[in-house]
Amino acid sequence: MVGSSWSKQETPHPGPLPSAERESGRESARFLKWMQNDANNGILRVSELVTGYGKKQVVNGVTLGVAKGEIVALIGHNGAGKSTLLKAVFGLIRVWSGQVYLDGQAWPKLVPRELLRAGVAYVPQGNRVFTDLTVYENLEMGGVTLPNKERLREGMERVFGLFPALKDRLKQRAGTLSGGEKQMVALANALILSPRVLLLDEPSLGLAPPLVSEALGRIQQISRESGMTVLIVEQKVREVLKIAQRVYVLRNGRVSFSGPAEALKDEAKLRKVYL
Ligand SMILES: Nc1ncnc2c1ncn2[C@@H]1O[C@H](COP(=O)(O)OP(=O)(O)OP(=O)(O)O)[C@@H](O)[C@H]1O
Ligand SMILES: [Mg+2]
Repeated sequence: MVGSSWSKQETPHPGPLPSAERESGRESARFLKWMQNDANNGILRVSELVTGYGKKQVVNGVTLGVAKGEIVALIGHNGAGKSTLLKAVFGLIRVWSGQVYLDGQAWPKLVPRELLRAGVAYVPQGNRVFTDLTVYENLEMGGVTLPNKERLREGMERVFGLFPALKDRLKQRAGTLSGGEKQMVALANALILSPRVLLLDEPSLGLAPPLVSEALGRIQQISRESGMTVLIVEQKVREVLKIAQRVYVLRNGRVSFSGPAEALKDEAKLRKVYL
């Protein structure tokens, strides 16, 4: 299902647009059009997605795209629908309408296990680890979809290289770890699969300020080294803008701004679109 045809002809990148267009949101539309051609590396695309809980509609038609190797930040106030959107993309809640595309192909049935196999991993908000299991057992669970023990061993070695501190904690029950250590395990559980696309929900939650920069810096490093594509939800806006290339602001379940992260580094502009 994932196999994409790379035979389509490349079209030129639309390039930076005048700020008036960026502010009106048209930048996103042009970028998405460019990415619709999978030869242009559009790896993840969400089109007009609507979802919610019970009868309550929370995400009201979100369209966004992430190109291969890009880090894209999704920011917005509490309750804007950021986590809900990620859950829907990963198949944890039902998409009411709209479509998710991987490698330019529509995925009408979003099933977490199949998405994992296709190289999409998801780290939920809030240090989600199996508290009664040891760190080692948590990593085994993270790697459960890997085809054999050898790949699991390779995955473990890779995450120990990224988070050497984990090696000293392998026999410790994950429930007894500090918040930062739990976050590390949650991230390692996803990275053990060498995902092509990582959906990350507030990796900084519960981390002390210096650790926030460190954690986000680590994610940027992994993306640069392996070409991993990242869609990251973050409340630590200024921090995430340092590692993201582009940003979407979600307000009441709608994209209220999209553009290069650079555009929001100006404090006045950030306040205008975000506060
Ligand atoms: N399981 C649920 N059942 C019912 N309503 C929910 C559920 N989860 C979230 N909501 C509601 O959906 C809305 C969006 O929640 P969501 O968790 O997506 O926000 P968010 O943007 O991730 O916020 P935060 O930054 O605080 O994590 C909120 O009004 C919330 O109360
Ligand atoms: Mg959330």
